[in-house]
Amino acid sequence: MKRHIAILLPLVLLSCRSPVRSEERDELGPELPDVERGEFHRPGQPCLRCHDSQGGTEPEMVVAGTIFATPDDKIPVANATVIVVDKLDEFRNVTTNCVGNFYITRDEWENPAFPLRTSITCPDGGGGVMDTLIHRDGACAGCHDGFPSVDSPGWIYCYDSGMSTVTPDPSCPGRVP
Ligand code: HEC
Ligand code: HEC
Repeated sequence: MKRHIAILLPLVLLSCRSPVRSEERDELGPELPDVERGEFHRPGQPCLRCHDSQGGTEPEMVVAGTIFATPDDKIPVANATVIVVDKLDEFRNVTTNCVGNFYITRDEWENPAFPLRTSITCPDGGGGVMDTLIHRDGACAGCHDGFPSVDSPGWIYCYDSGMSTVTPDPSCPGRVP
């Protein structure tokens, strides 16, 4: 009897940890078989659902997202710069990798003071300033998801429709599914 309790207890604790979280994660789907877990995986997804203090996946991130070329294609943009400014005017700059991903870890910015402001600068003059403040969710894709619609500003993009010459980098270790 004692032995059973010892075996069951850790299981119960694990499953109680965060049922909502694990549902959210399941919705994000499996890894692509040809992409390693790391900075190039899961472009366009809300990274912090796994990579924040609750998510428990290293590295812990405070802000993260992905930048695409236009509102109607999901071509990743490399070397775009994201500036995030906090309430106390502290800021961090970060650059996108070849799959358009960027992130700021807890080690890089221990305690940003919300709300945050942000803007992006893309190669060849693209970019934009977001007027809306980020009050809580450091995952850009928490709001920037899918095509632009009444419910969403759409994924983060650099250029207006038809104004992009960006092509995907075939040597990138990550890809957009
Ligand atoms: C569904 C959960 C999930 C999401 C969403 C997710 N990741 Fe991860 N990520 C993981 C797991 C699991 C690992 C492997 C951690 C380990 O090996 O300890 C990982 C590893 C990483 C690593 C570390 C690689 C290393 O070598 O240490 C980086 C960087 C990373 N992810 C970036 C991102 C970025 C950027 C995003 C969003 C675009 C993202 N992840 C979205 C689960 C996720
Ligand atoms: C709380 C929801 C929310 C989050 C989180 C969020 N955004 Fe936004 N974003 C919006 C909305 C709504 C708009 C459209 C209105 C505006 O520009 O403020 C927008 C617009 C933008 C624009 C376009 C501005 C333009 O018109 O050119 C950029 C760039 C942007 N966001 C970048 C980001 C980045 C980078 C992050 C993560 C660091 C982020 N957003 C996180 C809601 C959000």
